[in-house]
Amino acid sequence: MNSSSSAVPHHIAIVMDGNGRWATRRLLPRLAGHKQGVDSLRRCARACAERGVGVLTVFAFSSENWNRPADEVSGLMDLLAKALAREVPDLHKDGVQLHFVGDKASLSEKVRAGLQQAEAITAGNTRLVLNVCFNYGGRWDIAQAAAALAERGEPITEAGLDRAMALSHVADPDLLIRTGGEMRISNFLLWQCAYSELVFSDRLWPEFDEAALDEAIAAYASRERRFGKTSAQVQKSSRSASVQT
Ligand code: FPP
Repeated sequence: MNSSSSAVPHHIAIVMDGNGRWATRRLLPRLAGHKQGVDSLRRCARACAERGVGVLTVFAFSSENWNRPADEVSGLMDLLAKALAREVPDLHKDGVQLHFVGDKASLSEKVRAGLQQAEAITAGNTRLVLNVCFNYGGRWDIAQAAAALAERGEPITEAGLDRAMALSHVADPDLLIRTGGEMRISNFLLWQCAYSELVFSDRLWPEFDEAALDEAIAAYASRERRFGKTSAQVQKSSRSASVQT
């Protein structure tokens, strides 16, 4: 049984894997899978907000995805621009605060301006924080945080790095889900997932629906989060917390 304060994770992070296979199985181009992936993301964000999840962080384009075929890379850039134009008004209406996390320097001026505008429009929303990791890598994040501290002449400490990380505006993920059947982290949130519970789903991302999300949350709720302590210590402190409330 989960010993943190809630059975619903405050912060869920997702590696949205399996778009390509979803499309290939239907004899469609891979980009059709990514388009379906945007629909799945919209559905998942709504479902998270309805369940009281406060933060959703998704891996949309990794630092390594530049190595994919050029037409898939340009298709994903185009999809991002179109998804922004189409989705931002509804996300705003639904109370979603958008953040784009990653190395923006190598994105085109037009894409960068779109991201900034979407963040500005939704900045005051509080129902769900949605972090879209784009041109992001966990190693990039740790390196850029260390470089920022070095440039300011600050000591490289855990607390300092934590403050300089690209996701410093949110608490660390409680639950990390990877869809698509692979069991690896693939350079996502390496620093922030130190104590996240990991759930791997065989569903391909376009097929990851509300029931699959509920299964992942139920798996999370059944885990005992010990953060380095013993099980006896954790159970004692959760008993005294429940007496106090
Ligand atoms: C991994 O599946 C998925 C990606 C690299 C892209 C994820 C993007 C989306 C879900 C769309 C949201 C995007 C934007 C622009 C907001 P894969 O292609 O590796 O699938 P495979 O393992 O089946 O080949």
